[in-house]
Amino acid sequence: SLQPVILSGGSGTRLWPLSREAYPKQFHPLTSNHTMLQETVCRLDGLVAEHPGAGIQVMDPIIVCNEAHRFLVAEQFRLMARPVAAILLEPKGRNTAPALTLAALAATAGGTDPVLLVMPADHSIRQEPAFRARVADGFRLASEGALITFGIVPRKPETGYGYIRQGELVAEPNLVGHAYHLMGFVEKPDLQTAERYLASGEYLWNSGLFMLRASLWLELIGRFQPAIAAAVTEAYATNQRDGDFARVAADIFANCPADSIDYAVMEPVSHAPDTGLPPVLVLPLDVGWSDVGAWSTLWEISERDASGNVLEGDAFVHDARNNLLIARHRMLAVVGVEDLVVVETPDAVLVADKNRAQDVKAVTQFLAREE
Ligand code: GDD
Ligand code: MG
Repeated sequence: SLQPVILSGGSGTRLWPLSREAYPKQFHPLTSNHTMLQETVCRLDGLVAEHPGAGIQVMDPIIVCNEAHRFLVAEQFRLMARPVAAILLEPKGRNTAPALTLAALAATAGGTDPVLLVMPADHSIRQEPAFRARVADGFRLASEGALITFGIVPRKPETGYGYIRQGELVAEPNLVGHAYHLMGFVEKPDLQTAERYLASGEYLWNSGLFMLRASLWLELIGRFQPAIAAAVTEAYATNQRDGDFARVAADIFANCPADSIDYAVMEPVSHAPDTGLPPVLVLPLDVGWSDVGAWSTLWEISERDASGNVLEGDAFVHDARNNLLIARHRMLAVVGVEDLVVVETPDAVLVADKNRAQDVKAVTQFLAREE
């Protein structure tokens, strides 16, 4: 069976002031009328019906999030009137490798070994049926023991992503699309390296989606990061269920080394000699994917008016172009400006150069120091 695992622990600092520590971006409707977390959950609807031959059974999702966000997550499911398998609570975020290890332990607790589909809670995917076709392919290959990544054709030398070197085509006749061997994985390269990768045409962006059997993740984390495996296993051993919530030993989990799936496992697995490792594959994903990480990305993927402005709420423009304007509580008017991001909320207003959208995290860094 297929076990969706949704990682919902990020804080979305570059989307301040809408995204707040207490109310991060995945709980906001940013790309549609639904929140990003709801979009993520519903994205799999139709998978079984569209791919009846793939033998997929989709389980209720496992969500991994911070203890502080438990009611926000529970509320999302209540509003959708959908069940959740478990909401695994992290007393303190230790990045994605410990989060996935928790989910893999929960998924195998009943003696089963489902294929995990690991999904970030804050991505936008426009072509959902095409996405599901790739998931069906991933399920086929992951069931047979492979570690599956999903690659995006890079559009710019983005340094905030992982890069996957695409190798030989996998000979597997029953797939909807192509699959390739993964020849290398480099997380967040410097700009020079990213430019070289882009020019070579051999690399894809890592989408941050993964598929693999739960037991394979536990084996890989044990092999490459034994300290993470040991800490999370020990923390999970005493887990306590409280309705949909599950808590682990807080002090032990909080002392687990913090690391991402990408650095902790993907990079070392791509360097390791083949002995005893599963096939590591990449499925190209051409589905209108984007990581809504900064305001500039939201502008790029949103509908614009004839002057290139994206307007939300009571916003008025005169002779202004290519701006992103969000007015939540008051009227917002801009005159004669270009490439601005203006986000108005009851207690804070952001005015930023759209080309400097990555630097918005300086605001939250400043606010964190103030506390
Ligand atoms: N539960 C939990 N706990 N979730 C977390 C934690 C944590 O401690 N930290 C991050 N997450 C969630 C975030 O909410 C997000 O949905 C997802 O895990 C990925 O984390 P990011 O922090 O957004 O990672 P990134 O964007 O820097 O890099 C990853 O995604 C890129 C594509 O968007 C990597 O996988 C890159 O290789 C990839 O290119
Ligand atoms: Mg991200």
